Amino acid sequence: MKTVVITGSARGLGFEMAKVFRKNHFNVVLSDLSEENLLKARDLLLEINSDAKVSYHICNVTKEEDIKQLVQFAINEFNAIDIWINNAGVNQPDLPIWELEDNDIKLILDIDLKGAILGSKYAIKEMIKEKKGAIYNIEGYGSNDAKMLGLSLYGTAKRGVTYFTEALAKECSTTNNNIIIGKLSPGIMITDFITNALANKEKIELSEKTKKVYNILGDYPDVVANYLVEKMIKNRKNNVKINWLPNWKAAWRFMTAGFNKRDFFQEKK
Ligand SMILES: NC(=O)c1ccc[n+]([C@@H]2O[C@H](COP(=O)([O-])OP(=O)(O)OC[C@H]3O[C@@H](n4cnc5c(N)ncnc54)[C@H](O)[C@@H]3O)[C@@H](O)[C@H]2O)c1
Repeated sequence: MKTVVITGSARGLGFEMAKVFRKNHFNVVLSDLSEENLLKARDLLLEINSDAKVSYHICNVTKEEDIKQLVQFAINEFNAIDIWINNAGVNQPDLPIWELEDNDIKLILDIDLKGAILGSKYAIKEMIKEKKGAIYNIEGYGSNDAKMLGLSLYGTAKRGVTYFTEALAKECSTTNNNIIIGKLSPGIMITDFITNALANKEKIELSEKTKKVYNILGDYPDVVANYLVEKMIKNRKNNVKINWLPNWKAAWRFMTAGFNKRDFFQEKK
């Protein structure tokens, strides 16, 4: 039975991916900041009928020691890590760089960029011993070099994640291991992330224009997770990008926007 470890998986995309992996008979290691949230997530996962196991471990991805311990926990529980996903992430306050607090700048870079780097570093050390495994990092706004007011720092981090992931894939391709490094591009998802900066520390007020764009391009994370996980399970290639919202799909969404009756900001799922 295979094992997946997902950082920041008590809610949002991480949790939805965990559900799909469980449905596909993977052992799942959930990890996040709060034990209370992890327990709730674990109980919900256990409601899904599966012969695989669910474990959880607290891990703050800004702490190197936590990441090392998460790797060790997964190995102790399940012997090997088949897929590791650096999913934990935070949004930034809707402010220009010069108005961001130094501590918040550090936090965003530590979670969104350094967290993915350290997660990859310690997961790959184990995978090298096994000569197999896959690591996926999550892209986001800025990964493709786009710029938007109020997202400059988040964009800097995600641009870094993209570069880092491609560089790591190149390093892996020079070894004799069957290790896969890939990027997941989830488009826009209607999660707490879009209205909360710094993991719930600050609210983000979405303008009517932004809500309109999200109604056209956005999706709930379960829909995106189904797609991403199915592709990850099938993937055998290094340096892949699994992309939920390629340009052609975004263009199609805009062309057919007149028929789109979705309003994520009224309805409750
Ligand atoms: N929501 C979107 O539109 C969107 C779009 C593109 C990319 N992403 C990326 O997808 C990933 C998941 O986002 P989401 O929308 O599910 O967000 P979310 O806020 O719903 O979930 C993020 C999770 O990360 C956890 N987390 C925060 N700081 C952490 C830390 N220091 N250590 C460990 N866990 C921590 C949170 O507790 C939370 O459970 C993130 O990397 C995000 O940047 C999101």
